[in-house]
Amino acid sequence: MRVEKKTYNLPEGLSQFQTIARSFRSSRHPIISISENMERFSGTYSAALPGNLKFILTQDPGLINYVLRENHSNYQKSPLTSVRGRRLFGNGLLFSNGDYWLRQRRMVQPSFHHKKLQALYEIIVKTIEEFLHSVPEAGQVDVYPLMHQLAFNIVVRSLFDIELSVSQMSDLNSVFNELQKFYMSDINLPVRRLLYPITREDRVHYRKSAKLRSVIQGIIRERRSDPKEYNDLLHLLLNARYEDTGQPMNEDQIIDEALILLFAGHETTATTLSWLLYQVASQKIVQEKISVSVQQTNIFDSIKNVYLQAVINESMRLQPAAWITDRIALEDDSFGEVAFPKNTIIMPFFYGVHRNKDYWNNPNAFIPERFIDEQGKIKKHPSFFPFGAGPRMCIGNNFAIAEISMFLHAFFEQFRVLPTGQVPEMKALLTLRPDKVILGIEKLNQAY
Ligand code: HEM
Repeated sequence: MRVEKKTYNLPEGLSQFQTIARSFRSSRHPIISISENMERFSGTYSAALPGNLKFILTQDPGLINYVLRENHSNYQKSPLTSVRGRRLFGNGLLFSNGDYWLRQRRMVQPSFHHKKLQALYEIIVKTIEEFLHSVPEAGQVDVYPLMHQLAFNIVVRSLFDIELSVSQMSDLNSVFNELQKFYMSDINLPVRRLLYPITREDRVHYRKSAKLRSVIQGIIRERRSDPKEYNDLLHLLLNARYEDTGQPMNEDQIIDEALILLFAGHETTATTLSWLLYQVASQKIVQEKISVSVQQTNIFDSIKNVYLQAVINESMRLQPAAWITDRIALEDDSFGEVAFPKNTIIMPFFYGVHRNKDYWNNPNAFIPERFIDEQGKIKKHPSFFPFGAGPRMCIGNNFAIAEISMFLHAFFEQFRVLPTGQVPEMKALLTLRPDKVILGIEKLNQAY
């Protein structure tokens, strides 16, 4: 019997040879090279790699919504990013899949409910106030390391409301940075993996990851024997119960989820804050409007400050910290004209959607007002994906918006930022990290 070979209608794109030939450039400047391909292939294209690996990269909001939301049960995080991620950071929400992911998501989600988050606001504001004392009162600084430190301190303290010494905090931060750096180099240039048997880089980092887990294990064990009532995320994780069994998570699961919250919750926020300060530094009017708006609100209500929210959205539109993601198709699927086989990896290119002139007027300009409707409320936009979409949308989005808003409120009450003419390079790693954001900083009562 003749078996008919199924044909698929993949979008136009790059052959295996072209993909390999361009891979060096695209690993150095992925945003530029993907944007050029998007232009050439009208917003969705395919690429192929040896081993019959097929990719579809897209900046079509329809296809992105289809994969992340409408037909999400046919898609999982692809092994490209999740296998090494799990090995280094554990099987927490960001890297888990299938039924296990769903059960964990249901378990962790209630900890991020608005009401529960409000209990963390005190911790966040205290951390911001302490941090502002360390900001230089005048001069030029690279704000990225400052924002990184702040975002890390906020997420660590929201998870574990305990006094870690400065050296414990910096040890934790540096192990995290090393693991993250290794993870990014591993997924950006997988060919490095061939050298691991000689360099043993993977084993060195697995040992570091084990050390990190043991630090968190120590904190959990100490907490279990501490009669004091805590108001932090660890308290919520320890007291959460599975709907079906009524049982709590075991120790390994709590370590996995805590590690993932630390991992996913600081780099993204630091990146978002740094780009935002950079954008605002060269927008005098925007900065003046922010200063006026923060005088009219209380820091704990800064998430209701419409102008501030519009500025945050506009900054995340132009420089989305999560600039791309990936999913793998579990079964053959199609969307419109495009049909693709099981195991195709779909990569939503959020950066491209956010700057596409088909969906945004004057897409490269910084115009916060585009997010404010005629009633003066925040306008939702169907082509705006700063936190992803569908059931795997960022679990920490409300937390992130709260900490960013409260920081901006406190910062712009006391400081202003000035441009220095230096344009940060976009490092499209796991996040769209800016390389050196040198800005002028002035304490307000000194400036006027
Ligand atoms: C501005 C800051 C942030 C941005 C831009 C951001 C962006 C994102 C995006 C786009 C996703 C979805 C990825 C995908 O679909 O593949 C995601 C997932 C996730 N984020 Fe965030 N995030 C931010 C802050 C945070 C914070 C503060 C936390 C925790 C404290 C957090 C925890 C997570 C977790 C655990 C996931 C995985 C969710 C799941 O798969 O169920 N994020 N984030």
